[in-house]
Amino acid sequence: MSKIKKCLFPAAGYGTRFLPATKAIPKEMLPVLTKPLLQYGVEEAIEAGLETMAIVTGRGKRSIEDHFDVSYELEHQIKGTAKENYLKEIRSVISSCTFSYTRQVEMKGLGHAILTGETLIGKEPFGVVLADDLCDSENDGVLKQMTKLYEKYKCCVVAVEEIPAEDSNKYGVIAGDVINDAQYDTEALVRVNDMVEKPEPEDAPSNLAIIGRYILTPDIFDVLRKTKPGKGGEIQITDALLEMAKIGKVIAYKFNGTRFDCGSVDGFVEATNYFYEKSTK
Ligand code: G1P
Repeated sequence: MSKIKKCLFPAAGYGTRFLPATKAIPKEMLPVLTKPLLQYGVEEAIEAGLETMAIVTGRGKRSIEDHFDVSYELEHQIKGTAKENYLKEIRSVISSCTFSYTRQVEMKGLGHAILTGETLIGKEPFGVVLADDLCDSENDGVLKQMTKLYEKYKCCVVAVEEIPAEDSNKYGVIAGDVINDAQYDTEALVRVNDMVEKPEPEDAPSNLAIIGRYILTPDIFDVLRKTKPGKGGEIQITDALLEMAKIGKVIAYKFNGTRFDCGSVDGFVEATNYFYEKSTK
């Protein structure tokens, strides 16, 4: 299978936890310091060598397209002034990759959002970034760490981290057998054989939760087409991945780095403080 070149960003959700801020602004556009969440995700994908950003949007999300485009009026206004510096990063993002968009008309879950993106992805392996999981690491970004793993194992990869037992009902939770690989820390890699979407603590198969980074192979689309609605009546990527896991095609990876749950107000504030501290160092 080919190298990973595309990254899918499901970005059609309502962001109800951030109302009223998200009434007219997509949650993916909420800024941590001066940068929208989605831009952090796109930058992580670029760093991993991905070139095509495939964004699944929905109604009211047009500002996402405007953000990843040139604003001629603004460029004209600040040309030759010190303020140009503020646009350095976004200009570099726009010139290093292409963006394509499709709309999810009905909100039927993350699995359904990913299936909606098939038209932009086609028949190649791809990354998935959920922008409200904001990740930072000292060396390689989380997605880059995962693409390296994909190149070795050629199967789906999910990023996981250990969570307190009482949080299991917020995540997809996995279980499996440790893979011994001298290149990685002991227990960093698990061949997944079970995964459950948002189990109650007593039903959780482990304390390893999936965070919003995936590498998927294109056969996931056929599985998703057959996946029945699961938890919350939604089509879950976790359920589709379980089918792949049953044939040994899913690896869970305890990534190096820090992840903030910017889908919650607490996580968002933590991320803001963290990036602020980092920017003043
Ligand atoms: C989704 C997935 C879940 C995963 C989580 C990571 O849930 O369904 O399996 O653990 O993302 O952030 P959501 O946060 O969209 O409810």
